[in-house]
Amino acid sequence: MDTHITEINNSDVNYSSDPENIPLHQRPSISIRAKVAVSFSLFFLLSFTVTGWSYWILTKVETKIEFLEIADNYLVEIQQARRFEKNYLLYKTDLKEALEPLQKADDILTQNSGKIEKILGKVHFKTMVSFMAKYHDQLILLSSAKDDKEREAIVPMLRNFGSQMVSFAEEFVEKEQHSAKRMFLLAKRVPIYFMSALFILMVFVLTFLTRQLLLTLNRFMAYTRRIGEGDFTPIMPARKYKDEFTKLAEAFNHMTKELDHKHNVLLESHKLRAIGTLVAGVAHELNNPLNNTLLTASMLIEDFETLPDEEKMEMVHDVINETERAQKVVKNLLDFAREGETEIMALDLCKIVRDSTNLVVNQVKFAKVDLQLACDEHLPLIHGDDQKLKQVFVNLILNAVDALSPGGKIKIHVKKDDASRFVLVTVEDNGPGIPEHIQGRIFEPFFTTKTQNKGTGLGLSVSRGIVKKLGGYIRLASSKDRGTTFTVALPTTESAQPLTKPMP
Ligand SMILES: Nc1ncnc2c1ncn2[C@@H]1O[C@H](COP(=O)(O)OP(=O)(O)OP(=O)(O)O)[C@@H](O)[C@H]1O
Ligand SMILES: [Mg+2]
Repeated sequence: MDTHITEINNSDVNYSSDPENIPLHQRPSISIRAKVAVSFSLFFLLSFTVTGWSYWILTKVETKIEFLEIADNYLVEIQQARRFEKNYLLYKTDLKEALEPLQKADDILTQNSGKIEKILGKVHFKTMVSFMAKYHDQLILLSSAKDDKEREAIVPMLRNFGSQMVSFAEEFVEKEQHSAKRMFLLAKRVPIYFMSALFILMVFVLTFLTRQLLLTLNRFMAYTRRIGEGDFTPIMPARKYKDEFTKLAEAFNHMTKELDHKHNVLLESHKLRAIGTLVAGVAHELNNPLNNTLLTASMLIEDFETLPDEEKMEMVHDVINETERAQKVVKNLLDFAREGETEIMALDLCKIVRDSTNLVVNQVKFAKVDLQLACDEHLPLIHGDDQKLKQVFVNLILNAVDALSPGGKIKIHVKKDDASRFVLVTVEDNGPGIPEHIQGRIFEPFFTTKTQNKGTGLGLSVSRGIVKKLGGYIRLASSKDRGTTFTVALPTTESAQPLTKPMP
């Protein structure tokens, strides 16, 4: 059954949810520049947060140190007051001496009330002040006591308030010292932790970005290789969003479209040249049946009266046969030269190769070379365009003919490969072979060793383009004096990938 694969235009495609099928320009945009900007903003934000946090901690530590200085001064004064209190109790010194440091301690509290409240809170500050006021009151009472009995009643209370006042202040100083130390340690460590985390994050982000860039660059290198090999299928990257590389892909697609067009022009120009070559041979081939027809018809007219009816009929049949032969030659050439829509269909490769040998039969005859064609039985069908494939085989056979001297041999064999995935056509000649130093160049467009007007140098490059588009390949094996073998491999209809793009 013939399968006809028509062109799928980008605009006609029924896009599914598969990101690969969404046209490049319709994808959401996340540019590389945006990614780099976001990464840097993130780094900046993190650095800003950590710096701000360190500043805040250090300010707190500063406040605590200030408080500790105030508390230290305060403690010195109240401890001094208590020393005078002790001297009074032991040596009966003047108790009023204790009031002076107490007054200083009170001044310290009043002057720094705001700062102390900030650290201790209002309640504790009030307790502190009340302890001092009570101690002060007891001191006054003691200094104005009239007798020992009255003094003995006041002293325990005085000592009690004194010790409470000192221990309360000492307890807070110790607590705040610990807290300041802890905060200081934290402020010292956090930047180190942050730097380490930032370093890991930077390595991760840089690796990610570099990997993305390198992978995409590698993919583009593969695209250029693919385009170089004549595959002009548009690039449809799989990523869901568009970035700077999408623009590059669009530029690539524009370039491949242009190249595809130019390639088609080359293809046509090579075909025209092949037609020119064939027409020379065909003219000769038409001459024979025309001569025979003329001769038979003349003889029939001349001997019409004398010839028996049977022989007359035979001669008429001869005329018909020769005319049909000429018609076939013309049809063959018209087929080859035909322009029109490319049609990819399931084809019998053996028939195509046979038709191609028929087209060049005269060139083969003139060159006095021997051409043998062998086709294996039960060959699977292949997908292709018969005109284009004929162009490939005509070129390979003409190349072999050109390389051979009279008496040379061309063997063509159509067979399956071992895994049955390809049908292979080998075109083998026993000519001089292709020198090793030009073997890498013969597929280049316009490379030819033939003298002017004999070859354009497009044959093999065009042939390779045609075969590649059908999912096949052409291989060369050649050595000096042993001849040349070209192998054309085309995938069978079962193994071929569905073609999404038509042949040009
Ligand atoms: N069977 C062969 N034996 C020796 N050399 C060959 C053979 N086939 C190809 N070549 C070499 O490869 C070159 C390129 O071949 P290609 O078919 O591309 O161009 P051409 O034959 O020179 O020109 P055109 O195909 O336009 O007539 C030839 O010029 C020839 O040197
Ligand atoms: Mg050629």
